[in-house]
Amino acid sequence: MQQKTDISNLIIPNHIAFIMDGNGRWAKKIAMPRKVGHIAGAKTFKKIVDYCEKIGVKYVTAYAFSTENWKRPKDEVDSIMKLLVDYLNDAIKNFKNDNRILRFIGDREPLSDLVKQKMQEAEDSCKGRTGMIVTIAINYGSRDEICNATKNIVKMCLDGKLSIDDIDNDLISKNLYTADIPDPDLIIRPSGEIRLSNFLMWQAAYSEFWFDNVLWPDFSQNDLNRAIKDYNTRDRRFGGI
Ligand code: FPP
Repeated sequence: MQQKTDISNLIIPNHIAFIMDGNGRWAKKIAMPRKVGHIAGAKTFKKIVDYCEKIGVKYVTAYAFSTENWKRPKDEVDSIMKLLVDYLNDAIKNFKNDNRILRFIGDREPLSDLVKQKMQEAEDSCKGRTGMIVTIAINYGSRDEICNATKNIVKMCLDGKLSIDDIDNDLISKNLYTADIPDPDLIIRPSGEIRLSNFLMWQAAYSEFWFDNVLWPDFSQNDLNRAIKDYNTRDRRFGGI
């Protein structure tokens, strides 16, 4: 039994981003199809988002589907899309008294009409809210995001709305899908993999990382507490001294 980690009196990161990895391996361990792992992963997502809200995290971002995940078998892709639609339906219907703001990052174009429609409805249902911002990355990839930002900027230059000298870090940030979201303070990846996998590469320039061996469906409130406790030991200098 893991010892409970106390986070009272610790600094809570403003923005935590999660790479929800290990669903497939979790399912394999119990001899179930991969989609069972994703179902469990979606439950963990809900539980961890609730906990983040409780402890005062202002921004949560989660990697649900990458631009590379289309390479997976169609039935797995379909099962992830179905989980997203189920989650969004639930959010639209049942989170009426919630103050959370749901947002999405990624290229919506290749998504099905149903997924696109539910994303729009979910966003609309959050209008006027002021609470925690929950961002779900769907068909998201940093390289795709940076290409998209580059196209926007080049177009503005060609249209004479911008000069090349106007291009700076701030302008690029403002042309990313995450334009109005602060950079993540802490990026958490469970399941033992130690890489970013095309997630928030620009935004992670000064993020702190927490890698853990636990598989995402098993990721608990206490696992998050452990990450936060370690985050509190980091000396964030942002290139200064
Ligand atoms: C990575 O684990 C996980 C995904 C590609 C899908 C994540 C999706 C969900 C948790 C469900 C839908 C989300 C929401 C927000 C309702 P993996 O399958 O690559 O795991 P493995 O490395 O063990 O195979």
